Amino acid sequence: MTKKRVLSGTRATGKLHLGNYLGAVKGYIELAENPEFETFYMVADLHSVNVPYDPKNFRERTRDVVLDYLACGLDPEKSTIFIQSLIPEQIELFYLLSTQVSVARMLHLPTYKEKVKLQPQDVNMALLNYPVLMAGDILAYKAHAVPVGVDQLSHLVIAREVARKMNSKFNTSFPEPQPFKTGENYIPSLLGEGKMSKSIKGSYINLTDSLKTIEEKLAKVPTDSGKGKTIPEKGGVANLMLFVELFQGKEKRKEYKDDYKNCGVSYRQLKKELAGAIYGELKPIREKRRKMKESLGYVDEVISEGTKKARRVAGETLCEVKEKMGLYERGC
Ligand code: TRP
Repeated sequence: MTKKRVLSGTRATGKLHLGNYLGAVKGYIELAENPEFETFYMVADLHSVNVPYDPKNFRERTRDVVLDYLACGLDPEKSTIFIQSLIPEQIELFYLLSTQVSVARMLHLPTYKEKVKLQPQDVNMALLNYPVLMAGDILAYKAHAVPVGVDQLSHLVIAREVARKMNSKFNTSFPEPQPFKTGENYIPSLLGEGKMSKSIKGSYINLTDSLKTIEEKLAKVPTDSGKGKTIPEKGGVANLMLFVELFQGKEKRKEYKDDYKNCGVSYRQLKKELAGAIYGELKPIREKRRKMKESLGYVDEVISEGTKKARRVAGETLCEVKEKMGLYERGC
C-alpha cells in the first residue's frame, strides 16, 4: 500500500499557544499515528520574514516551534520534522511554480489584501508570493492532504490550481492537495472576538504559561451577569464554554448551561477551575519541554535528520519538474 502524504507547517511564531495545540498539533499527531499516512511537518520560517521581525531572536523562535512539536508528542520516528529554509529544493520549486501563477490572481486574494491594509508601507513581493511559496511547500512533497485552518483554504485552492496547470502543461504528476480537518477548527481568542493568535496580545495562552498567568489571562475574558434565559452563543462567555468542554468535558459545560438558566454561574469560580484544568492538561508538555530545553542537542539532531529526509523527497520532485520543464538538472 502506498501511503498518502501529509504536509503541514506552522509559521515561526516562537512558543506555541493553546490554539496551535488544539487546532493543529493534536491533529498532526493523530495523522502521524495513522499508518495510512506519511507525515511531513515543518516550521515555515520563510513565511514569517515578510512582516517586520527581529533577526536577533528569530532562529530561537523557529527552534521553539520544533521544541513544542516534540513536547506535544510528535514523534520524529514517525514524522519528518524540518525547517523550511533548510530545504533549498522547495524554494527552487517555488520559483518554477510561480511561472504558472498570474499576478492578478494573487492581487485579489483576501489574505493578501488584509496584509496590505495591515502594513501599507511595506507591501513587499514576499507577501504577494506567500501562496506560491506555500504551493512549493506542499507540492515538493506531493502531499495529498494538508491539515490547515479555514484561514488557509484560499491558499490551498492556489496550490491545487498550480498542480493542475503543471500536470497539464508539463505532464508532471502532482496530486491535487486536499484540506484536511483535524481537531478543533477554530480556537477563539480570550478577548471574546476573533481567533486565538500570537499577533494579538492577550488573546492566547502559551503552552508554557504558569497557573498564575493562565488565571490572570482568563480573568480578563469578558463575561456577563451569569444569569439569563439562554447562555450566549458568541463572545467571551461562549468561548469560555468551549474551553470548559475541551478541558473539563461536555457534562461540565451542560452543568454551566443549566446553572445559567437557574441559580446563575459564578465566573470567578468557573475561571479558577478552568485555569486548573488547562494547566493540568499542559503539565506533561511543559515537563517534556523543560527536559529537552536542558540539552538542545536532541532538538538539533531531529532537525538535522528531518532535513536529510525532506531534501531527499523534495529533491526527487524538483528533479522531475526540471526535467519535464526542459531545464538542466543536477542528476536525479
Ligand atoms: N501559511 C500557513 C499558516 O500561516 C503556514 C504554512 C506555510 C503551511 N506553508 C504551509 C501550512 C504548507 C500548510 C502547508 O498557517
